[in-house]
Amino acid sequence: GSVSLALAEEARGRLTVRQVDIADTAQVLGQLDGADMLWLESPTNPMLEVAETAVLAAAAKAAGATVVVDNTFNTPLVSRPLDYGADVVLHSVTKYLAGHSDVVLGALVTSDAAMRAELATYRTLHGAIAGPFEVWLALRGLRTLALRMERSQANALELARRLDAHSSVTRIRYPGLPNDSGHERATAQLKGYGGIISIELESRDAADALVEAVRLWLPATSLGGVESLIERRRRQPGEPKTVPEALVRLSVGIENVEDLWADLEAALSSAPNNG
Ligand SMILES: Cc1ncc(COP(=O)(O)O)c(C=O)c1O
Repeated sequence: GSVSLALAEEARGRLTVRQVDIADTAQVLGQLDGADMLWLESPTNPMLEVAETAVLAAAAKAAGATVVVDNTFNTPLVSRPLDYGADVVLHSVTKYLAGHSDVVLGALVTSDAAMRAELATYRTLHGAIAGPFEVWLALRGLRTLALRMERSQANALELARRLDAHSSVTRIRYPGLPNDSGHERATAQLKGYGGIISIELESRDAADALVEAVRLWLPATSLGGVESLIERRRRQPGEPKTVPEALVRLSVGIENVEDLWADLEAALSSAPNNG
């Protein structure tokens, strides 16, 4: 979503977008010269790549760029980007913060008074003011954030271990697994590994069949709610071509982990090419 917005602004000639591999620190550092803003998401959606966030934020600030961190996947319980120098932290409140998939809201967080005033004025003039009922839903959800995150993450780690050992899964991405490329960085920087897992199956058809076959997991695009969601990402028109066709993103909810596994396992074995 953020990339599409930035590219639309670029098409109107309002800015220049430099897309970088956020996990490649040297590449990002090499692109900072003259940049006005570094926009970071880590782990990334849906590839779950982990950036050296503090290093990148410090370098961007030194280069005079504003640092924006999308902290939606982590929530403040897992990462606090203002502590390592972010100017603005962005949350899709729609996801974990509200947590019940019943509200669409966003939040920007900053410790800079001038930046806050600028953002508040922009919001006032442009009209995107949250309604009282939506805010009430978000506050109500927020009260169980810690419990929901704890359970989602515990469920995700257990499911990731089992999926990693499953013969139908050709690749798994989850920073909580010791063999994941982002494991070391996530362990050093984050207070958890999150509730999102991405798996790749043998083919696009196998991925579609999995999504079709599950009964407890809901096929849907959102994430971060109490219910577990599943989606083959590349079916989205805006999804970058770097996302494999057979990649399925799992947003692990707070249900009983054995129920979640039984459903996934049955669906994996019923899919074509999966024996
Ligand atoms: C990481 C991330 N940031 C931002 C958004 C945008 O959220 P919203 O749907 O609340 O506008 C999403 C989801 O769409 C997301 O996954």
